[in-house]
Amino acid sequence: MTALGTTVDSAVTPVLRARGLTKNFTLRGGLFGRRRTLNAVDDVDLDLFAGQVTAIIGESGSGKSTVARLLAQLQRPTAGSIELDGAPVSVRGNKELRRYVARVQLILQDPFASFNPVHTMGYQLRRAVRIHSPELTPHQVEERVGQVLAEVNLTPARQYVDRYPHELSGGQRQRLSIARALTASPSVILADEPVSMLDVSIRLGVLNLLARLAAERNIALLYITHDIASARYFAEVAAVMYAGELVEGGSAEEITQHPTHPYTRLLISAAPDPDRPAASGPLRDAGAPPNLADPPTGCRFHPRCPFVMDKCRTTPPPVFPTGQAHWSRCWLHETPAGTARLAATPLNDPDPAVAGPAVQAPAPTGAQHTQTSQASPTLPSDGKKGLRS
Ligand SMILES: Nc1ncnc2c1ncn2[C@@H]1O[C@H](COP(=O)(O)OP(=O)(O)OP(=O)(O)O)[C@@H](O)[C@H]1O
Ligand code: SF4
Ligand SMILES: [Mg+2]
Repeated sequence: MTALGTTVDSAVTPVLRARGLTKNFTLRGGLFGRRRTLNAVDDVDLDLFAGQVTAIIGESGSGKSTVARLLAQLQRPTAGSIELDGAPVSVRGNKELRRYVARVQLILQDPFASFNPVHTMGYQLRRAVRIHSPELTPHQVEERVGQVLAEVNLTPARQYVDRYPHELSGGQRQRLSIARALTASPSVILADEPVSMLDVSIRLGVLNLLARLAAERNIALLYITHDIASARYFAEVAAVMYAGELVEGGSAEEITQHPTHPYTRLLISAAPDPDRPAASGPLRDAGAPPNLADPPTGCRFHPRCPFVMDKCRTTPPPVFPTGQAHWSRCWLHETPAGTARLAATPLNDPDPAVAGPAVQAPAPTGAQHTQTSQASPTLPSDGKKGLRS
């Protein structure tokens, strides 16, 4: 893949850069214990810039969390490289891992699971402060705990430090996990679906908090989500992930207002939208993502794509530029006629060029389905980002 990734300004060095990131898992099982390879992440390029929110959007199982774990050095890539501030990252041993983790913090979907239930929040925050700033006196540690709690709007601190994880709400726990990440003064935060387990009413508050921290502390923030509407509000730059690959990238505004990949169009058509109430809700007649142990040949999206052409079934599409810092991994953009064909087809409509009925594929089942949240911000047509506070 070219070095497009999600880069908007290629003159600036990203804080975190990934090139050709690939992760295969070996699966054992079946009748004869046969080994199979599951290609969870394939050739992903990604640039995260200081002070910028970048989103990765995709269905369940598309490889989003694996990308986060690779970037956090919790898993080793099968291939590809990662650079932090332009220097290659090669973490060997606990000391190097600790140094890396101080710069690159991961926030998980389930804040309850990320805390030890038998210790108070104060204990866990003090411990984090001591790990990252061993030179501080006990009094300074206490001050630092108060500071990070204030940064996530949990004040007065005494109301939270003596409580156990189960005594707090989901939103408070997620704010505390953000506070704990701040104890490291990170340059990068990888937020893996940070609000998807939270109550509807508090999601925007937590997203606003993350956006404010990214801006104020110049943090490069990766926001991982299945919800394209929230990505549009929250992120400046976005990439859409399908079956382990990034298939479209650009400014979040561009890819949600002028999507140039059929899969992005599918996600948008399934997002809640007051102007298109009939289209809102789970993906309809849209099929399911492929088995990554046996992905489709050619374009991985071809079994679900209403625009599929012969070439799509045999040859993986390269990245085509589709606008300023906007790109799409789709054969339609090989020719202006293909681009025009996509642009002329209304969202959620069958492609007039292929005619006939809409794609009738099996309904999504189990974990392999796109989760659209009615609680998420809808996609307005005014082009404004609504989450900035
Ligand atoms: N340790 C592992 N061993 C084997 N397969 C794995 C492992 N971790 C992830 N996978 C597989 O890799 C693929 C991508 O998983 P991943 O968790 O990255 O997806 P995701 O996009 O984060 O999904 P979700 O939205 O459900 O969190 C899935 O098919 C998953 O089953
Ligand atoms: S390459 Fe072909 S199958 Fe894949 S998204 Fe584009 S038109 Fe559809
Ligand atoms: Mg995940």
